Amino acid sequence: MKFITVDTYAELSRKAANIIAAQIISKPYCLLGLATGSTPIGTYDNLTKMYEEGDLDFSTVTSVNLDEYIGLDGSNDQSYRWFMNHHLFDRVNIDKAKTFVPGGTVADLAAEGAAYDARIKELGGIDLQLLGIGLDGHIGFNEPDTFFTGETHVVDLHPSTIEANARFFNDISEVPTKAITMGMAAIMQAKKVLLVANGPKKKEIVEKAFFGPITPEVPASILQLHPDLTIIFSEQE
Ligand code: GLP
Repeated sequence: MKFITVDTYAELSRKAANIIAAQIISKPYCLLGLATGSTPIGTYDNLTKMYEEGDLDFSTVTSVNLDEYIGLDGSNDQSYRWFMNHHLFDRVNIDKAKTFVPGGTVADLAAEGAAYDARIKELGGIDLQLLGIGLDGHIGFNEPDTFFTGETHVVDLHPSTIEANARFFNDISEVPTKAITMGMAAIMQAKKVLLVANGPKKKEIVEKAFFGPITPEVPASILQLHPDLTIIFSEQE
């Protein structure tokens, strides 16, 4: 595990973008695992800038996102599909047909999960997985539980997650209570994992996850078993 502490969010975002750019440059036909949440926004801004300046080409990149809210389709501006289009896909030359986000409005969510995992396998597995971390230690939407789940599955969001994500909605009652998320198998099988955590409010959970016991009660702690894990933590928000 490589634990990098930086002072500012700007530095976190630059460093994370440089690692992702290095991945794309060294393997142009790569599969990137991408994340939502407020933390990766600066990383996506830096990647966009590299593209605009002609230093990065996304035309051969394929991506798979971690998760999606149940009940929101891509035209809803709170959906994670919309988030990805807005913060990255519409700003660079990635082929949208090669960007995948689990479907939150499909009738058969179990089949959707199985198909998502099969697709990742078919694509040869994830080369680099970007992750944020929730205040309760969730990655993707893998919430604290008594066991780790391997496959892409539907979860009930924890009250603390609903509360934390309510800031993006008009009212807490609008926050979906369920999500579909990639499970631990695809994340742990990624060749490299890069986790970004921003500011003092994430300090305690980062310490628990990476310097405490490995337990499904702190889902991110499973990453301690990953052979190529980089964490970038910024002291200031
Ligand atoms: C959501 C996402 C996670 C993300 C988390 C933290 O719950 N599903 O993937 O890591 O938010 O978000 P933030 O970076 O805004 O703290």
